[in-house]
Amino acid sequence: MGDATTPETFAAPRLRALERADLQFVHGLFNDPEVMRYWFEPAHVTITDLEETFVRQQRCGDRERRFIVDAAGRRVGLVELVYIDQVHRNCEFQIIIAPGEQGRGYAGAATRAALDFAFRSLNLHKVYLLVDTENAAAIHVYEKAGFVVEGVLRREFFADGAYRDATRMGIFQDDYLAAARS
Ligand SMILES: CC(C)(COP(=O)(O)OP(=O)(O)OC[C@H]1O[C@@H](n2cnc3c(N)ncnc32)[C@H](O)[C@@H]1OP(=O)(O)O)[C@@H](O)C(=O)NCCC(=O)NCCS
Repeated sequence: MGDATTPETFAAPRLRALERADLQFVHGLFNDPEVMRYWFEPAHVTITDLEETFVRQQRCGDRERRFIVDAAGRRVGLVELVYIDQVHRNCEFQIIIAPGEQGRGYAGAATRAALDFAFRSLNLHKVYLLVDTENAAAIHVYEKAGFVVEGVLRREFFADGAYRDATRMGIFQDDYLAAARS
């Protein structure tokens, strides 16, 4: 499966489960400083790290769901539902669209697909996220999908040489499903 893209090859994305064969693609994302700066993590991950994490996640599948954002068979991003909590019925949402694929609407479509999975398949009550307060594009995508700002965590994460404020956003199942019906 190739990852090269042109505007002509744009296609509405779908989410599919992350497979072992996708780890090389994830390795590229997780070693990209521009991407990881917004994930508040150092861009330094080995394939062995990813393989071990993949095996561990297979054993605790009800706590984490990871997806490839797939556009007509091309890998364009990664979406994760993590810290899935069966008591409080919530989870955290995370997304990366590959740098060469950004600005084409993939994040908006993938966010809606992930919320569909969280609320219609997993029957979660709430999905939340933490985003760098300066990450205007991501906040725009999340607000458009229905996330609402819940608060700001001041100087919460260290990334790219400085402490960063993080905005917490959330969306409820009943609000999401009501909006989808209207
Ligand atoms: C943030 C990210 C997911 C967005 O992905 P994308 O595929 O480029 O997003 P989309 O094309 O679906 O949508 C981008 C939207 O943001 C808007 N936008 C772009 N730059 C913007 C800015 N500086 N301020 C406000 N809105 C902006 C676009 O106009 C577009 O809005 P529209 O759908 O109303 O036209 C992607 O840039 C990324 O993965 N970045 C690195 C990792 C990251 O930041 N992940 C999120 C961590 S919380």
